[in-house]
Amino acid sequence: MIIILNFGSQFAHLIARRVRDLGVKAEILPFDAPISKIKEYNPVGIILSGGPASVLEKGSPRPDKKIFDLDIPILGICYGQQVIAQMLDGKVAKGKHREFGKEILKIKKSENIFKDLSPEEIVWFSHGDQISKLPRGFTTTASTPTCKYAGYENKKKNFYAIQFHPEVTHTKNGIKIISNFIFSICQAKKNWQIDSIAKKTISELKEKIGKDHIIVGISGGVDSLVAGTLLHKAVGEQLHAVFVDTGMLRKNEVEDVAKVLRKRKFDLHIVDAKELFLGRLKGITDPEQKRKIIGHTFIEVFEDTIKNKLKKYPIKYFAQGTIYPDRIESAEASKHASKIKSHHNLTLPEKFGFEIIEPIRDLYKDEVRKLGVVLNLPKELLWRHPFPGPGLAIRIVGEITLERLHILQEADAVFIEELKKAKEYEKIWQAFAVLLPLKTVGVMGDSRTYEYILALRAVDSVDGMSADWHKIPNELLEKISSSIVGKVRGVNRVLYDITQKPPATIEYE
Ligand code: XMP
Repeated sequence: MIIILNFGSQFAHLIARRVRDLGVKAEILPFDAPISKIKEYNPVGIILSGGPASVLEKGSPRPDKKIFDLDIPILGICYGQQVIAQMLDGKVAKGKHREFGKEILKIKKSENIFKDLSPEEIVWFSHGDQISKLPRGFTTTASTPTCKYAGYENKKKNFYAIQFHPEVTHTKNGIKIISNFIFSICQAKKNWQIDSIAKKTISELKEKIGKDHIIVGISGGVDSLVAGTLLHKAVGEQLHAVFVDTGMLRKNEVEDVAKVLRKRKFDLHIVDAKELFLGRLKGITDPEQKRKIIGHTFIEVFEDTIKNKLKKYPIKYFAQGTIYPDRIESAEASKHASKIKSHHNLTLPEKFGFEIIEPIRDLYKDEVRKLGVVLNLPKELLWRHPFPGPGLAIRIVGEITLERLHILQEADAVFIEELKKAKEYEKIWQAFAVLLPLKTVGVMGDSRTYEYILALRAVDSVDGMSADWHKIPNELLEKISSSIVGKVRGVNRVLYDITQKPPATIEYE
């Protein structure tokens, strides 16, 4: 396993992804993880990530100094490179130029981490400071016209450092550099393949749960579906799946998911709570209030199902579809981040006393999808765009009524269908329709119409934290617009949202 010490880089996850894609387990730890913690993982190599700070600032992040005495290969990237220099008595200075973007790197010798690379390679930089004096025992391995020590190493100690980012695709042979480090230098063994992860997880779950019973909440999304399927393979009918129909789900969502689970003989409990949710949301227009009502009602319905429908089972565990980025982000959640929205995810009150099991807690989203393929789950469900916990409630601006919900479900289904037909769907991170509580005048046939405005949102993003509007071809936009207005009664005008996040958010409420 390879440990990545995260100095706050937006690319730390990308480094982990690259290592895992090469077939080796990678774990991200905070930059100041104590040496005892690092040793617990028994890593064969450590990568120090980049980060936004300057090593010249007082109090800037440093790793435990003892990592340099572990006798384990270390690769420092960008900030990580400068940290090595600074901590091992080299020198870092404010650079005269900021280097940002692609550069030609001159490599001294095609060996060690640069094995099989050419004397000149395209790499991607993003830094201000740079090394001005190498630590003792180190030699330069690569440079650019403005960065003398773009690469340096101490072969004897197996410490390697590079100022550019091998993890981004703009560095043409970046993967090769990472591969050289983990295989040639660290001698890592391939231990991260989805098939074997599936088998291993199922057998571990089987052993842990034994004869006890477990509940999983199904949301319609990929994570709970894959987590539930792994559990079902492990413990069969000791698993009880609860799917709350809030009425705020996408068109046919309950039926589509239920069909798959029933075919697999899940003990599935679909709770029809549509009226309850709609009743409680009646007259509510404030976004935060909507979110809170939905969150509370959801827990209430779930608890009620456990107390009544499932009371005959000796339930000990509760499963959650938490994935790796959720876990890392909540552990490292920045204290100064202001609350933008109350996110709704199913967490049961402690009084139930269930032990939590998270079958996919170590996986990234695309690994979860690959696992879903191994488990034979249908592609349409695995490749669905993300869907928020409060569902369509936050895509109807203002009051939610049955009529508005119905219009939105239909319009959203037409939008998605058209994107799929045009093979645009898979290029987009998230696409959906939003109902605006405004009516405008239109003309259809020879008659006047007075109907709702629908906004379409389609965004490109990596993690939902920031997003750009997706450039849907004009002809397709036109087709989608006429298809929606033609097929969905109640909408006579369609707008396409071209706002980035920030300043807008992806969802409307
Ligand atoms: P925003 O609107 O905050 O959305 O830009 C970012 C991403 O998060 C999703 N989202 C949620 N997901 N529970 C969830 O599980 C929620 O309450 C929630 N609110 C927003 C949103 O769909 C987008 O992908």
